[in-house]
Amino acid sequence: MKAIARDAYGPADLLELRDLDTPPIGDDEVLVEVRAAGVDPGVWILMTGRPMAVRLAVGLRRPRVAALGRAVAGVVAAVGAGVTRLRPGDEVYGTCESGSFAEYATARQHRLTSKPANLTFEQAAATPISAVTALQSVRDAGVQPGQRVLITGAAGGVGSFAVQLVKAYGASVTGVCSTAKVELVRALGAEDVIDYTRHEIDHGGTRYDIVIDTAGSRPMSLLRRAVTPHGTIALVGGGHARGRLLGGFQRQMAAPLVSLFGSQRVCGVTGRERYEDLDELTPLIESGTVTPVLDRVYALADAPEAIRYLAQGHPAGKVVVTVQGAATAPAE
Ligand SMILES: NC(=O)c1ccc[n+]([C@@H]2O[C@H](COP(=O)([O-])OP(=O)(O)OC[C@H]3O[C@@H](n4cnc5c(N)ncnc54)[C@H](OP(=O)(O)O)[C@@H]3O)[C@@H](O)[C@H]2O)c1
Repeated sequence: MKAIARDAYGPADLLELRDLDTPPIGDDEVLVEVRAAGVDPGVWILMTGRPMAVRLAVGLRRPRVAALGRAVAGVVAAVGAGVTRLRPGDEVYGTCESGSFAEYATARQHRLTSKPANLTFEQAAATPISAVTALQSVRDAGVQPGQRVLITGAAGGVGSFAVQLVKAYGASVTGVCSTAKVELVRALGAEDVIDYTRHEIDHGGTRYDIVIDTAGSRPMSLLRRAVTPHGTIALVGGGHARGRLLGGFQRQMAAPLVSLFGSQRVCGVTGRERYEDLDELTPLIESGTVTPVLDRVYALADAPEAIRYLAQGHPAGKVVVTVQGAATAPAE
């Protein structure tokens, strides 16, 4: 099968389109014929091996899995003996173990579920990591109807879903983004938008019940000033300071400790990949309450370009790689 692969951690220049063996499936795994794959900052982390802490999970000296990519949408080609929820021919989406920038990918069954009927494969591939992280942020923050919620990075992968989900929970949204994205964030449902190139997030003096910080670019002192005395700060993004060891994720890790000081709650959101969360999103997607926003769609061979674009940090919604129709039958 064709796949975007590499032998070492490093820049996108190390990626190449190669012929790899179709990955074998274990008892609890599903082989997916990939139609589209999502690109998110986690792909950059897996590609570069930065922050270094991630190498503990994916290979200390070099990546254990050659193919790259996590979020996937496609059609089930085969299932392991212990798979009960899915069968060949099902259209699915979720996250995979073996690299989704490939014609075939394997995933544990609990990381896949049926694709929402109204989504294209590209839209579906845009959803698993970003929308699930957004859902978990909204839930972890405890968003309630009538609350005022500020979302930084409101036009990005996680933020564009978070705006729609907070609205679906009955709260009002102020989105923070750059000038070119103001109309997009309004169209997603935000009542107010702060253009961060012109104003700080505490502009106007409003204090929010909740701040969902996906951009990760503002200091904690400023986030605290933007939240009510008993409000909540949900930290999602590690920001763009690429710290060598933890890459900015130390803020999430320190959140429980920080919460001990002062009356505001600070929670670090760590995305958990579970089909139950995708199933919770499905009715919202099928009713049109939540719609993935696609910025750019790249061909499989152009996946390195897709990653370079995302790494600039300013997508309008999601970036996706399409793999559809290219697959040859997997070896028996
Ligand atoms: N905790 C978890 O489990 C988890 C899961 C997924 C993602 N994440 C993290 O969450 C963060 C966001 O992910 P994503 O997929 O939404 O990324 P993304 O699609 O690249 O979006 C990044 C957003 O950050 C904004 N931004 C960039 N530079 C900025 C600046 N200087 N000031 C303010 N905003 C700025 C951009 O807004 P403009 O385009 O308007 O500039 C853009 O909307 C990343 O750090 C990612 O690693 C964490």
